[in-house]
Amino acid sequence: MTLAKTREHVLKIANQRYATKKYDPNKHISDEDWQTILQVGRLSPSSFGYEPWRFILLKDEKLKEAIRPFSWGAINSLDGADKILLILARKDVTYDADYIQHLVAEVKHKPYSPDSPQSQHFKVFQERDLNIQTTEERFDWAARQAYIAMANMMTAATELGIDTCPIEGFNYPQMNQFLAEHQIMDPKHWQIAVMVSFGYRDQPIKPKVRQPLADIYEEI
Ligand SMILES: Cc1cc2nc3c(=O)[nH]c(=O)nc-3n(C[C@H](O)[C@H](O)[C@H](O)COP(=O)(O)O)c2cc1C
Repeated sequence: MTLAKTREHVLKIANQRYATKKYDPNKHISDEDWQTILQVGRLSPSSFGYEPWRFILLKDEKLKEAIRPFSWGAINSLDGADKILLILARKDVTYDADYIQHLVAEVKHKPYSPDSPQSQHFKVFQERDLNIQTTEERFDWAARQAYIAMANMMTAATELGIDTCPIEGFNYPQMNQFLAEHQIMDPKHWQIAVMVSFGYRDQPIKPKVRQPLADIYEEI
């Protein structure tokens, strides 16, 4: 593909990605496509490479029905999307957390110490530069990164001809309580960041309406 064609394709995909309001419940995503989308989420960038996320596929119809009353923004997705993905973000990432020790030592195969330059650099970055002090602030920081993974997965899905809808339209306290009560997540370590649905649209795409670039971009 020439570079000009690639540019055209990139913009075509951006226009084609569309927050799907009506899915065709009879169409299903192949396992190969789904695994590809998950890999793209897994490969997403994160601050310090700390990957503070977890992806949970909501398959159980009883669970889907149970979240319906407090998930107004997900109703269209619950009614036809092939997959509903819950994206959790960690609330426990600190320079000396057990999780970080595990990630550095066992996943990245690097020596871990809370006193290492890397750990101390992260401590200063988190506590001084980002001014993150509380569990809630740690969650917000992690959730920002979970959204990057979600965006990448949505773009990858579009490339594969799969439609998506990001979903924040639910009651966060109720969802957190529900996920904890059903032992889907340990509330000591996790909170829900966002949900996203995947499937095949059953409606035409409308042309995108956006602010002009001149209103949102400047060079200084
Ligand atoms: C973080 C986020 C949360 C959203 N939550 C919902 C939602 O709960 N339900 C829904 O139908 N659409 C939701 N949307 C979709 C937006 O309304 C949509 O992206 C926006 O209107 C632009 O339309 P487009 O994505 O089709 O270009 C959400 C989008 C984002 C980025």
